Amino acid sequence: MSNIVIISGSPSHPSRSSAISTYLEKILVTVGKQVNTITVRDLPAEDLLLANFNSPEIKEAQSLIEQAQAVIIVSPVYKASYPGLLKSFLDLIPEKGLVNKVVLPVATGGTIAHLLSLEYAFKPLFSVLGSQEIINGVFMVDSEISYKDQLTFADIGIEQRLKTALDDLLNRLPKEEMVK
Ligand SMILES: Cc1cc2nc3c(=O)[nH]c(=O)nc-3n(C[C@H](O)[C@H](O)[C@H](O)COP(=O)(O)O)c2cc1C
Repeated sequence: MSNIVIISGSPSHPSRSSAISTYLEKILVTVGKQVNTITVRDLPAEDLLLANFNSPEIKEAQSLIEQAQAVIIVSPVYKASYPGLLKSFLDLIPEKGLVNKVVLPVATGGTIAHLLSLEYAFKPLFSVLGSQEIINGVFMVDSEISYKDQLTFADIGIEQRLKTALDDLLNRLPKEEMVK
């Protein structure tokens, strides 16, 4: 069975992007995937801040990533880039920690003006970590999603963008099911 890791990178709780992580996890579990979600804000803050490579919690998270065939990184856009919290975690991943893994970036932002942050900020980071297969990411503007009690999408097309990206991810893994 394919292992998929979701890295949820928001410093906030509750969080729009975390709600998306939960949504994606549910879909993947429904189609029979083994999914582990790493919520970066739940890792020890001091270990992240001081780059403690020996932290047991960080090592456990690293090991989940090591075993995964695919990694979905779900994050808000901060200052036209990724939040420092997410970067501090990715800094603790080994140099080529995403090699041979399919990576799907999913980002939420307050403005469509920062849609391209996926291309100029997120993707180069995953590339440096060794991923040669970064699939087309999904960017969602805050007004397109609401997450109070449960995640809802402003229209079906927005949800479909996520499902299409998931299908793309699954299609790159051996013998995968479709979610559409
Ligand atoms: C410190 C901070 C910086 C932000 N910078 C941007 C930005 O540069 N571009 C943007 O589109 N949205 C920006 N936003 C808005 C968030 O990306 C957006 O509200 C996102 O959906 C929040 O996700 P979350 O609820 O998962 O944390 C920023 C929000 C915060 C708190």
